[in-house]
Amino acid sequence: MTTTLRSDFKNLQIESRGAVTILRVHRPDVLNALNRETLSEIEAFAQRFVADPAQGALVITGSGEKSFISGADIGELAVLDPRGAEEISQFGQRVVGRLESSPKAVIAAINGYAFGGGCELALACHMRLASDNAVLGLPEVGLGIIPGYGGTQRLPRLVGRGKALELILTGRRVKADEALAIGLVNKVVPQAELLGEAEKLAQAVLKNGPLAVGAALESAIHGPELGLADGLRLESSRFGILAASEDMHEGLQAFLDKRPARFQRR
Ligand code: COA
Repeated sequence: MTTTLRSDFKNLQIESRGAVTILRVHRPDVLNALNRETLSEIEAFAQRFVADPAQGALVITGSGEKSFISGADIGELAVLDPRGAEEISQFGQRVVGRLESSPKAVIAAINGYAFGGGCELALACHMRLASDNAVLGLPEVGLGIIPGYGGTQRLPRLVGRGKALELILTGRRVKADEALAIGLVNKVVPQAELLGEAEKLAQAVLKNGPLAVGAALESAIHGPELGLADGLRLESSRFGILAASEDMHEGLQAFLDKRPARFQRR
């Protein structure tokens, strides 16, 4: 069932398809560029999403058929002084970090241009699907700035340092098929199928134990930042904590009983 949720956000459209929430960034005049107001709205929404037990997974896309998010709003960047520039970078990093640290799956459905901050937001999502017309890139150095919402850190981690530096230093934009080949996106689909595919991917996560999904996300995302030994300790500790959950016993027992598991998030 699809429901458009009442949204008190100016630049976001929120739709619920059962437990899957679709968030569309909606600033059509600027191809969905992220101004400060939109970043604030995404942050507020992300907090709500994490807290709301009815929302199980999030798909982020752009409004319209041309652009996911065209980047940070260049009009706002143009008037920044050094203090303001550092502050907006930290703010953008915090906002996309809220998506990354969500204990529920967050999927970017990249439906067109994903440049600068738009590409960086997608990099912070747990998985990325792209439509066949998608183009991604970090063109900041061509504007005399650098990626400031995590791009210099997450792109090398995702595609390797050599390829990341090629893209960051040249600002070259990559089409969907190349993005797939370098591991920047998980899958490319025709634009008309993009949201359906994203929803299918979300459902494939949602059929699993939600506490286990949250623990796997935490371990896989934060573990590598700690180094191998501490990352392994984090994994074991989350493995141990799950053993206290009813869901773990339900999941294992359901397998032994040859029936589907009924997870309760506890
Ligand atoms: N910030 C603010 N406004 C933006 C924007 C951004 N990141 N990206 C696009 N816009 C605005 C354009 O200025 C234009 O406004 P106008 O109609 O008032 O002139 C409108 O959105 C449409 O963009 P336009 O350039 O006419 O569309 P296009 O299809 O020819 O090109 C892009 C689309 C995305 C290739 C091009 O707009 C672009 O290169 N944008 C900047 C991308 C970028 O560098 N992002 C990183 C920022 S750090």
